Order: sequence, then structure tokens, then C-alpha cells
Amino acid sequence: MAPAAWQFCVTFIAVIRLSFSTDHLLKMECKGQHKSVFGQDTKLECFLKSPYNEFTIIKLLWKKENTEDALFKFFSGMADPGNDPRFERLQPGNCTDVSLLVKNTKITDEGKYTCLAVTDRGHAIAETILSVSAPYTNPVMSSMPAKNIRDDMTVTMFCNVSGGYPEGRIQWYDEYNTDWTRSSETQSVQTKDRRYNLTSTFTVTASSTTKQYSCSVFNSDDLKEGEQELNLMFGPDKQEGDSNTTAVAAVFVVVGALASGILVLALLRRRRLRGPPLSHPVETEEPLEVETK
Ligand SMILES: *[C@@H]1O[C@H](CO)[C@@H](O)[C@H](O)[C@H]1NC(C)=O
Ligand SMILES: *[C@@H]1O[C@H](CO)[C@@H](O)[C@H](O)[C@H]1NC(C)=O
Repeated sequence: MAPAAWQFCVTFIAVIRLSFSTDHLLKMECKGQHKSVFGQDTKLECFLKSPYNEFTIIKLLWKKENTEDALFKFFSGMADPGNDPRFERLQPGNCTDVSLLVKNTKITDEGKYTCLAVTDRGHAIAETILSVSAPYTNPVMSSMPAKNIRDDMTVTMFCNVSGGYPEGRIQWYDEYNTDWTRSSETQSVQTKDRRYNLTSTFTVTASSTTKQYSCSVFNSDDLKEGEQELNLMFGPDKQEGDSNTTAVAAVFVVVGALASGILVLALLRRRRLRGPPLSHPVETEEPLEVETK
């Protein structure tokens, strides 16, 4: 392998593991990327690797980028929790598992963490990155006006979701699966804990709209997290009543047609059976037979 390529490989491996050691004797290995969910506990996994069976941790330090104070300190056999009790070491004492436990993970816990260990066999340092996500609530839909919608009205529909992170998006469909997202407008506000509330609005004119719409919320990985349907409530004088009457009328027409058809057939049959005794002229029988075919 060419020296440049070799160097690239070595660098690459070092970056992937996000770990390095100051000598060849002691190493720290961390999972490079940790993903967690808002409100859950997170383990930032790091392990000391040493060819020696025994070594003594003199000092252990967990820090987060852009923060002054250590999140956790272990020094001369004593654990010194930082200011935030949500951070603690997973295993106590002189253990090769130096993982940090983050309780009730918050969005603000996202970022790069560094762990440093000083032992009687040398020291080692490693980094790991934490990303946090939060699921959106299922959409809540509403319309203005909510009911008694008349043909001359414009109707604004709402699709609200809350508490998600990172920022997601909302998509609109009608009952024929036509995508109306481009005609909608979505606003997002960030809550104090950095999660997002999304409010999407979509306005239609009552005279030219379909009755049913649905909205879906997608997270930042483009995965659908929830879906909801809304049926627009048209006024009592319109739609519902009218369409029901029409449907009933249609049923009567069909049933009526069938009944009269059956009646005609029955009559014809009777006539044919009784034909000869009634002594009708044979000629009148012929055209009737043609008709029934
Ligand atoms: C959705 O949000 C809008 C704007 O904040 C609000 O007017 C509407 O009432 C909300 N709808 C529901 C069902 O919460
Ligand atoms: C976000 O939505 C939640 C739930 O509906 C609500 O309690 C909270 O006040 C909203 N926050 C903002 C900043 O709109």
C-alpha cells in the first residue's frame, strides 16, 4: 500500500473510533455516535482497554464541548458529581467501564462529549457525539368554521402537532390521495425545551372542495409519525340531506325498474301459456316473442 493510502486508512480508523491513546498501553474506546430519545436515560458507552490485568484509575473526567465544568469527576477514589445530578458514572470505582449515564435526556444534551482517564499505566482520552430526538404527538385537526359550512364560505383547516425534535413537516391529502401540501402553510414554534410545535393551515372554498382531508406528520428522517382525518361538516340544509334523498330516490328507480321488468315477463309468460285457449290470432304472438329476446 502506498504511504499516502496507508496514512489515510489509519486516520480513517482513528476518526471512526473517535478514540486514541497517548501510548500503546492504554486505550479508551467509545461508541462514536449515540442516539437517544427525549426524556429517556442515555448511556454514553466508553471502555478502557489495557494489556495489563490491573491498573488503577487515578482520575476520570467527563466533559461536554463548550462547557466549563466537568459533568462528572472521579479523583483519588472519590466520585465528584458535577452541578447537574442527571449525569453520573454508570459503574463505580476502578472499573474498565467508564460510561456516563445521562438521566432524563434533554434536547440541550446534544453535542460532543470527551472522556479522559488517567491511570497508573498511562492516560487515554476519547470523544463521542450524542444526538437526541423527540416524537411528535399525533396530529389534531380542526376547521373554521367547524360545522354548518355553506357553499359561499371559505374554510380554513388546521393540523397541529407538538413536542417533536428535530423540526419535522406536515403533509396534506384529500380523499382521492391528491397531495395539497403546496397549498398549505406550516409554522413552527420552539418550546422552552427546544422541541417544536407545528401548526399547518390549509384554506379551501366550500363550493369546490371535497369533504374529507387528512394530514400526516413526518420527522426529520422523512418517516411518518402520525396521521389524522377530518370530515368537513356541511350545513344541514345542504349536502347530507340532499345526497341522502338522491340515494333513496335512486334505489326506488332501480327497484321500480326491476319490478316492472319482472311483471312484464310474468305477463308475457302467462299469455304464451294461455295463448292457444284464448284463441288469439297467432300473428300477435310473434312480435311479442321477439321483444323478450
Ligand atoms: C391549532 O392551532 C391553531 C393556531 O394555534 C389554533 O387556532 C387551533 O385552534 C388549533 N387546533 C386544535 C384542534 O388544537
Ligand atoms: C406547544 O404545544 C403544547 C401542547 O399543545 C402546548 O402546551 C405548548 O404551550 C405549546 N408551546 C408553544 C411555545 O406554543
